Parts: sequence; structure tokens; C-alpha cells
Amino acid sequence: MSASIIDGKKISQHMREKIENKVMTLKNSGVTPGLAVVLVGDNQASKTYVSMKQKACEKHSIYSTLIRLDEEISEQGLLDKVIELNNDSAIHGILVQLPLPSHIDETKVIETIDPSKDVDGFHPINAGRLMTGGDGFVPCTPYGIIEMLKYENIELAGAHAVIVGRSNIVGKPMGQLLLKEHATVTYCHSKTKDLACHTKQADIIIAAVGIRELITKEHIKEGAVVIDVGMNRDDEGKLCGDVDFQGCSSKAQAITPVPGGVGPMTITMLLANTVKSAEKHSL
Ligand code: GUN
Repeated sequence: MSASIIDGKKISQHMREKIENKVMTLKNSGVTPGLAVVLVGDNQASKTYVSMKQKACEKHSIYSTLIRLDEEISEQGLLDKVIELNNDSAIHGILVQLPLPSHIDETKVIETIDPSKDVDGFHPINAGRLMTGGDGFVPCTPYGIIEMLKYENIELAGAHAVIVGRSNIVGKPMGQLLLKEHATVTYCHSKTKDLACHTKQADIIIAAVGIRELITKEHIKEGAVVIDVGMNRDDEGKLCGDVDFQGCSSKAQAITPVPGGVGPMTITMLLANTVKSAEKHSL
């Protein structure tokens, strides 16, 4: 079997058309969705991600502003900036790019963001709403993955989904979203014994551990759907995922590439969350 490739760019494009229509409607009623991106320090990867997010906003007529703060800024200095953005009516979404320098408490910063502007979905109120079935913001990467699976008509109800990784950004919310779609969910992580024994039972595997090509064809069953969240660099500096794409392609039913799989969806869902926030704030 040769897997079909799940094209994140194509699905993103489809979703962005819908987002564009919503932006138009908002603009016609005098509201421009606004996103504030806060970048602390000089981390190259963070700068690249932030720039991609801003370009996407620009392309879809969403206002975005980048607040660059010095690596040495105090925790209070950053919290004050977040509070200022909470109170800025032109801003509907606030995103503080992670990771933050070690002298700043990330949890404190996330908890200072107004939950109604938390387009990353990292605030405990939004995490709680996801868990209890309320209407909050869903973290962009797992949100994008669910949308991809739905677009591809992959059966979720009753499917066994195995998530490799338990981060607050991807793994944990991914499990909640899959549960909501009636999947049976297994979480695996760095302390899991005999990873392959679990992943081989999966109808759907979500690889989100940040270990280069950890998931090989020995880890999957014939006909599995394989979603690769990894963003690693190989020895030549080329982007590669958590999945051995070549190997798994010979066995899977469908697979996401890196790049061009989950990545574009993450950015698209950030746009969707920002527009949703603008809609809610303008009611
Ligand atoms: N760092 C890596 N991924 C993310 C993300 O989705 N949001 C933020 N704010 N920081 C990140």
C-alpha cells in the first residue's frame, strides 16, 4: 500500500477562503480583526514562526502588530504589556510566543492574558472549557489536525487514536478533541514502556514528541492514518518530522508530510481563532 498524502496547504487554502469571507463581513460592519504578537528576545526559530503568523494575517487583511521586547525584560514588564493589550479594543487576539526566557514564569504570563483574547487557547479557562465541552479557544495545532482529519473524511468515532506526546500545546488538547469526536484515546510519552506495542494498535497516530523520525514503519499497523506534528532539523539543517515519512508511507493509509502538513494548518487556525474573537467582541 502507498499512503495518500494529506496536503495541509490545500486544506488550509480551503479554510482560509471561509476565514476571508468572515473578515469581509466584519470589515463591512466596521471591525478589523486584530492580533498582537509578543516576541521576547532573539530566538531565531521564534522569529521565523512569528513572521509566518504575521504574513498570514497581512495576506488575509487581519491587522497584526508585533511587540518585540528585550530578552532582559522583567517579568512584570511583560505582564504590564499583556495587561495593556487586554485593554486595547483594537486587539482581539494576544499571542505571546513561547518559549520565554527562563527568568519569566510562562504560566503567570499565560494566566494574565484575557481568556477572551487567548487565541492560542493556552489559558487554564480555555483548557478547562475544552475539557468540559464549553465554548473556548482551542490550541491551534490540535484544532488544525482535527479539521484535517474531518476534511479527509477519516472516521473518528470509535477509532483508536494514539497520541505520542503530552504537551499542553499539542498532546493533551489533541486527546480532548479526539474524545469529543468519540475516538478511543491512548496517550504515550517519553516514559511509555514499549511504545510500538501501543502505536501498532492505532487507527490514527499523532506524533508530537519532537524526536526526529521516532515513528518508523515498525511502529504502525497496515492502513493507519499518521499525523506528524514534528518540526525537527536533520544533520543538513533540513526540516523533518517525528515520523519516518518514507518508511511509513509504504504501510499507512494516509500521512501528513513535513513541511506542508500540520504546519500550514496551525497558522490557519490562529487566523480562525482571531476572527472568532473579533466576532465575539463585536457582538
Ligand atoms: N511556540 C511554539 N508553538 C507555539 C504556539 O503555538 N504558540 C505560541 N504562543 N508559542 C509557541
